[in-house]
Amino acid sequence: MNSLWFNMGFFVHWSWLAALPCILCLGAEVQVDCTEEGMQIQGGHYTLTKQLQSGSLLVYHCPEGYYPFPVLTRLCGSNGTWRPAPKKFKPQRCRLVECPDPNVLEDGNVFPPQEKYFVDNETTYECYSGYTMRGSNRRVCLPNGKWSGSTPICSRDSGDNCADPGIPAGASRTGHLFEIDDKVKYSCNGDLFLVGTRERVCQENGQWTGKEPACYYKHTYDTPLEVSEAFGSAIKDTLTILEPIDDTQEGRKIRISKNGTLNIYIAVDISESIEEKHFTDAKDAVATLISKISSFSVTPNYQILFFSADIFEIVSILDFLDGQITLSTVQKELEKFKVLDRNTAGTDLNLVFKTFLERMAIIKQRTGADFKEHRHVLIIFTDGAYNMGGSPAPTVAKIKNMVYMNHTSGQEAQSREEFLDIYIFAIGAELFDDDLQPLTAGTGGQHYFRMKDIKNLQETFDEIIDEEEVKGLCGLHKDYPTIGKDSKRKMYPWMAYIVVQNEGTKKCLGSLVTPKFVLTAAHCFKFGDLPEHVMVEIDDGQGKVKKVKTFKIHPNYNINGKQNEGVKEFYDYDVALIQLENDVQISSAVRPICIPCTQETSDALQLVGESTCKEQEQRLFKDHLEKLHFLTKTRTSIEEKDAHAKLGDIRDNCIRHALEANGITTDNPKVAVTDNFLCTGGRNPYRDHIACPGDSGGAVFKNYEHRTIQVALVSWGNKNLCKKESIPESDETSRDFHINLFRVVPFLKSILGNDTQDDYAPLQFLKN
Ligand SMILES: *[C@@H]1O[C@H](CO)[C@@H](O)[C@H](O)[C@H]1NC(C)=O
Ligand SMILES: *[C@@H]1O[C@H](CO)[C@@H](O)[C@H](O)[C@H]1NC(C)=O
Ligand SMILES: *[C@@H]1O[C@H](CO)[C@@H](O)[C@H](O)[C@H]1NC(C)=O
Ligand SMILES: *[C@@H]1O[C@H](CO)[C@@H](O)[C@H](O)[C@H]1NC(C)=O
Ligand SMILES: *[C@@H]1O[C@H](CO)[C@@H](O)[C@H](O)[C@H]1NC(C)=O
Repeated sequence: MNSLWFNMGFFVHWSWLAALPCILCLGAEVQVDCTEEGMQIQGGHYTLTKQLQSGSLLVYHCPEGYYPFPVLTRLCGSNGTWRPAPKKFKPQRCRLVECPDPNVLEDGNVFPPQEKYFVDNETTYECYSGYTMRGSNRRVCLPNGKWSGSTPICSRDSGDNCADPGIPAGASRTGHLFEIDDKVKYSCNGDLFLVGTRERVCQENGQWTGKEPACYYKHTYDTPLEVSEAFGSAIKDTLTILEPIDDTQEGRKIRISKNGTLNIYIAVDISESIEEKHFTDAKDAVATLISKISSFSVTPNYQILFFSADIFEIVSILDFLDGQITLSTVQKELEKFKVLDRNTAGTDLNLVFKTFLERMAIIKQRTGADFKEHRHVLIIFTDGAYNMGGSPAPTVAKIKNMVYMNHTSGQEAQSREEFLDIYIFAIGAELFDDDLQPLTAGTGGQHYFRMKDIKNLQETFDEIIDEEEVKGLCGLHKDYPTIGKDSKRKMYPWMAYIVVQNEGTKKCLGSLVTPKFVLTAAHCFKFGDLPEHVMVEIDDGQGKVKKVKTFKIHPNYNINGKQNEGVKEFYDYDVALIQLENDVQISSAVRPICIPCTQETSDALQLVGESTCKEQEQRLFKDHLEKLHFLTKTRTSIEEKDAHAKLGDIRDNCIRHALEANGITTDNPKVAVTDNFLCTGGRNPYRDHIACPGDSGGAVFKNYEHRTIQVALVSWGNKNLCKKESIPESDETSRDFHINLFRVVPFLKSILGNDTQDDYAPLQFLKN
């Protein structure tokens, strides 16, 4: 992100070399810090990007429903003064957000008539008699400076080819004829500016070109929800457009054949000394976007770069074209990239477009006539304050020319427009809309988005594609708590509660491993329990409690098996599978976890080609100390516990504490803790959490790139340190033992992978 000052041309340090003789005079100039005196804002606060040094941006913040007035930001100049300078007679304050004037409705009335409308003000709309209303008849002014709902339109059925396109709040329209090829033009009144399509044309199919524009104030932002809906529907069109559907309902003929190629170019502005956190947010957002796109059937090629005055390339689209890299490479490269030690001064947005144009030219050269089948989607994140390289507009014109194949007007040009989309996410406290908006391109949905910060972008992208479309993916989950009651379900969509009620009650946890099977511990059941005694609770919106058809316990499980060897309760092979009567309804809140040795898990681990169980195990248990997680149910919620599996040569030292458990009299820990167990607990080198009785049967899991893989299940421990309502930490000698799922694959496979039955869809297990 960049600063106002650069853009206004006050400071041009990149031209020092050109102005060599002046180095001395600049050097002699004393840099003076700005002061904070008189910079307060009534009702709000401010932050500084570089303390009080020159070049620091002072950003005002106000509570929701207010905006900073008279300015949004100020910049510290090299002579120690703020620009624009604060004015005594116009003190900086937080002002109530206003919405654009709704009194633009034609052929109807607006109530109440007011000169200005503020946040929370409500308006109602009614049409003159003989006119009918489309859109919202009641709207509320929202904290982001927009009206809720949609533009009310009063119209009479006049038999025109297109329907009256209406007038958005705060706008004026010229053009009142709605026949084929008639045009309407919009402008915004006062200090509002227009976002979206300025001119719309009535088409033969009865639709207007483009999308309804809106009038924004400088303080109008798109909420994450608005962005996710608008961008989501636009990009979805692109991602599914490759299917040869004849979508005549929408009046849009899709001309691309299925074998067309999609190229996606992403650029993220990292100029100025942006905080590391901000940068991480941007990276996460891009990673989420890519992983979301990958859930569609298209496989795009990617060009991804970060930029300031320089370009930092993450992946080149040419490597994709050559088949040298895949999506997993992109994710790895993205992960690896650090902003440290890079020059982030200056911003050259033109260089970004030039780089994209260059790559397109090479693609064109290499693909020849097939280039006309390539669609290009450019996605840029910036505040638009470029101070080097000049305006990107001419380069964007060249990009258009290339993709439009030199057609500038007429039917041909129009049909080519579908092959290029340029989306701009304007992000920052001070945005250069006038420079940025003209750089967008594309038909259909919204292409320009205004956002205050990048913080919510990951979630925004995460919401874009509804999870129905990515049903097959085990372990997919949200990595952060979202707002709302089912937020924990979205983090752990595979969790299941199990209650066995038969001469007493036993509570366990379990994990959904297919839409019909729940994995849990064998010791949750005892001899004589029947399916009707078992309640499985998974809230999939179709009734919380699931009917159980049957359950199967590992044939080798025998709790009394080593009584005469000094082990009163022997938990080897402590696994069971519960088969539900019906499939659960898969959604973002209900989805199976990945389990070892399945093809899906290899995909989740991004193992390419034919993979083996061993490779999965090696990837999941890389170190002798592997951090794992499991869940515990509290009275009101579900919490995550962390523990470290002690593997390799430190395992023996971990399991010897098994001898401290009640009922163990042998002096060989390996009698009780066979090789089938993982051992966690203790305080060295990390203080682990310890399991409680109700945690039994729950998944012990590891996350890998937004996917969860269950590696074990909670079985038993040597001590009960649990108290009500707190998550117990291990003491020096407390230990938990978990069944390692890699050791019980034959059992899992015999049931879940059984393909000679037709009761349920089998899981695909690996051959080796
Ligand atoms: C600082 O520089 C600006 C513009 O160059 C000028 O308008 C202003 O008067 C200067 N202030 C001082 C205190 O010199
Ligand atoms: C509109 O909002 C302002 C500011 O909150 C308030 O003073 C006014 O009463 C509201 N008008 C109506 C009609 O609700
Ligand atoms: C795409 O498919 C069409 C029809 O199946 C075929 O004629 C054309 O050559 C294909 N184009 C490419 C780039 O493969
Ligand atoms: C488009 O115009 C450029 C420059 O005039 C020319 O080099 C190129 O061959 C043209 N491309 C097509 C597809 O006509
Ligand atoms: C698979 O299912 C069939 C049909 O229910 C059953 O006869 C068979 O024993 C099962 N196979 C295994 C390995 O359990």
